[in-house]
Amino acid sequence: MGSNSHLQTLSNPTTLVIFGASGNLAQIKLFPALYELLAYGHLPERLSIVAIFRQSSAALDTVMSQVEVTMLRQHRECDPVILARLKSLIRPIIMDSTNQEDYYRLRDVLDGIDHEFNVAHQRIFYLAIPPSIFKPVIACLGAAELNKEYDGVARRIFIEKPFGSDLASARDLIDSIKTHFEEHQIYRIDHYLAKETVQNILTFRFQNPLIRSIWNRDGIDYIHIRALEKIDIEGRSDFYESLGALRDLLQSHLLQLMALIMMDAPTAMESHAIHEQKNALLGAIKLPTEPIDEFANRGQYEGYREEVNNPESQVETYAIVKLGVDLPEWHGVPVVLETGKALDHKDTSIEVVFRDRHNIDSGRNTLTIHVQPDEGIELQLTAKSPGFGYETRPVSMNFSYNTAFEGKNPEAYERVLFDAIAGDQTLFSTSAEVLACWEILEPVIQTWRNHNSIPESYAKGSEGPVGGIGIRKSVTT
Ligand code: BG6
Repeated sequence: MGSNSHLQTLSNPTTLVIFGASGNLAQIKLFPALYELLAYGHLPERLSIVAIFRQSSAALDTVMSQVEVTMLRQHRECDPVILARLKSLIRPIIMDSTNQEDYYRLRDVLDGIDHEFNVAHQRIFYLAIPPSIFKPVIACLGAAELNKEYDGVARRIFIEKPFGSDLASARDLIDSIKTHFEEHQIYRIDHYLAKETVQNILTFRFQNPLIRSIWNRDGIDYIHIRALEKIDIEGRSDFYESLGALRDLLQSHLLQLMALIMMDAPTAMESHAIHEQKNALLGAIKLPTEPIDEFANRGQYEGYREEVNNPESQVETYAIVKLGVDLPEWHGVPVVLETGKALDHKDTSIEVVFRDRHNIDSGRNTLTIHVQPDEGIELQLTAKSPGFGYETRPVSMNFSYNTAFEGKNPEAYERVLFDAIAGDQTLFSTSAEVLACWEILEPVIQTWRNHNSIPESYAKGSEGPVGGIGIRKSVTT
C-alpha cells in the first residue's frame, strides 16, 4: 500500500507540530513511536518537532522521562543516545491553543525553521487534544494561513477520533474542517487501521485463492468482531464520560474492521481504490428489524460511577451490536461487534465461523484473526484423535507473526507517523466513511438517548452484561 513512495517521501524535510504534547496520547504513544522510528532510521534527516505545551517547558523533561519509562517497560532498555537525539529535535513552545495571537508566534517559529535549514519544510499538525477544541484550533490554523500549501509543499492536519459524537456533530465537524483544509490534507486517525494484523486483512483475503473462494454467504455462517479489554477506563474520566464504549471504539475501530473483512476486492491496492470499496460496504450495513434490545445492548461495570464521580452516569463501558449487510453475497450473515472494559480477558480478534452446509455436525470450522495479543491467524479444524477409535476433536492450525516473521512489528502509532510524513492516506478514514459509520449507529444512539436507557450492570472481571452475552449467543445457535 504505497510502500514504494515511502522511501522517496521520507526524505522530505518535515516539521511535525504536536498540539497537546503534555497529554496522555502524546506521552504514551506519539513520543515513544518517534523514538522507535528514530532508532530504526525511519525518520527524514531534516525533521523538527514542535511540541506545544500549555505551561512550563519543563514539560519536555517529563515527556523524555515518559519515553524512557515506556522503552524500559517494552524492551527493558532505552538507548541514551537515541533519547538525546530525540530531545535535540524537539522545540518546546508554550502557547494557548485557542488564542489566535499565539498562532502568529507559532508561524514565526515554523518560518524560522525553514530559514535555518534554507528549505521549505512540509508541515504536519497533529491534534493530540480533546475533541472539544478541534474546531477552534483548526479555525486558528486557518486564520493564520498555516493551512496554505505553497509550491507543492504539504500542509497536513492529523485528527484523533472521535470525529463527532453523533451524525449531526460529525457532519458539523467535517464541514468546519473543510472550510480550512482540503480532503487531501486531512488525516483522520483510526490507529486500528495501522495495526500490522489489520493491514494484513486485505492481503490475506484477496491473495489466497482458497480463502477468496469461501468468503461469502455460502461459506460463512457468522462473524464476531470484538475488542474486549481487561483494563478499566484508567482514570480517563472526562474523556470517557463524554463518549462511552459505542462511540469510543465500536463506531470507529470495529466498524472499520468489519468493512475490511467484508468489502469487495479493490481494483488496486492503493488508497483511492481501497476507500471506494470500504465505503461501498459501509453504505450497505443495516441494523436488523427486530426490537432494538434483541440486537443492541450496553452495560456499565460496577464501580464506574464512583470512579468518574457521577452517581447518575448512564455512560456505557460495554456495547454490543448485531448487524447485517444488505448485499447479495452477504445476505443472512449476522455480524456481531462487541467491546467492553474491565472484562475477564483481553482479546481483540475477528472470528469467522464457516457454514456446515451438509449438516455433518462434527464441529465448526473457525478462522480467527488475532489482532492482539499474540498476533496471528488461527484455523480451527476437526481431526481424528489418535488411537483405535474414531473419536474426533478440534485442532488448531496457527500462523503467528512472532515465528513467521523476523524482527519487530511496527507499533500502530509508528505507522501513523510514518504515513503522516510519507503523505499516504490509505490507513486513515475518509469523511464519507466517518459519516457512514455514524449513520449506521444513529438509531441505536437515538434510542439509548431518548429512552434514557440505563446500561445493564456487570461485575468487573466478568464476561459482560447478561443481555450482551445473550446477543452474542444468538448467532451461535
Ligand atoms: C482507543 C480507545 O481508541 O483504543 C481506548 O480510546 C482503547 O479506550 C484503545 O483502550 C484500545 O487500543 P488498543 O490498541 O490497545 O487495542
